[in-house]
Amino acid sequence: MTKTAIITGGGSGLGQSTAIRMAQEGINIAVVDVSEKGGNETVEKVKAHGVDAIFIKADVSKAEEVKKYVDETMEKFGSVDYFFNNAGISGSGKYYLDTTIEEIEQIVGINLLGALYGVRYVAEVMLKNGGGAIVNTASSAGVIGQDSVVTYSATKHGIIGLTKSMVAEYAKDGLRVNAIAPGPTETPMVKTFFEANPQMKENATSGIPQKRLGTPEEVAELVTFLLTSKAEYINGEVIRIDGGFTSTK
Ligand SMILES: NC(=O)c1ccc[n+]([C@@H]2O[C@H](COP(=O)([O-])OP(=O)(O)OC[C@H]3O[C@@H](n4cnc5c(N)ncnc54)[C@H](O)[C@@H]3O)[C@@H](O)[C@H]2O)c1
Repeated sequence: MTKTAIITGGGSGLGQSTAIRMAQEGINIAVVDVSEKGGNETVEKVKAHGVDAIFIKADVSKAEEVKKYVDETMEKFGSVDYFFNNAGISGSGKYYLDTTIEEIEQIVGINLLGALYGVRYVAEVMLKNGGGAIVNTASSAGVIGQDSVVTYSATKHGIIGLTKSMVAEYAKDGLRVNAIAPGPTETPMVKTFFEANPQMKENATSGIPQKRLGTPEEVAELVTFLLTSKAEYINGEVIRIDGGFTSTK
């Protein structure tokens, strides 16, 4: 039977690239995003590879909308085999004491609560069907400490805790949960962030041993590998994909 993947933040960047890459493997895709424009664009690109796809508009920071995207995927495709739990925002790039409580709540709500809700509802349907595979998007900032991203970094460290602890509870039941920790990757999110903070772009590139940013396609390749049966014995891992950035810290 054709497998199905849910991809949050599927309307842009890492989510869109992964949707296209997984479609090339013959996997049906449920694209979840707040952006209708981005989500519909991904659906079109995915369908061009001959698989089926739907766009589900949902804000991952709202538990009821998370439940809704899982229910709608089940109604449409009958299973959720793979989950790329990826939607996230970066924040303003200010020092922590210059950030507002609203910004802290927004980043935690989307990046951490959104990811926790996603795993909560997706793992439930996966376990009823005998298991499945999840990849959570962390970040270099989830592996090391960095200035100007304190709240973001806290949420991404949280993603790694979620990943490892899910394995402790459910690996025996057929669930695989891994995390990726990309360094700066050329997506719209990073372009916007670096446009507002040009000095940080220079610092970021010069601090990467390979002296370039990553590409969304490179990340999509890793996620597809981790989600599909080729990675059947990889569980609870955090795979860094950052041109050597965190290895030199
Ligand atoms: N690009 C990088 O350098 C980089 C590095 C490390 C980690 N990440 C992480 O990768 C993930 C994807 O980032 P990206 O670079 O592809 O960014 P992006 O901005 O290109 O894409 C993110 C997508 O998430 C969607 N989104 C935002 N808030 C949402 C919400 N509340 N509910 C549903 N969808 C929402 C946006 O509409 C957008 O389509 C994020 O979790 C980010 O923290 C990115």
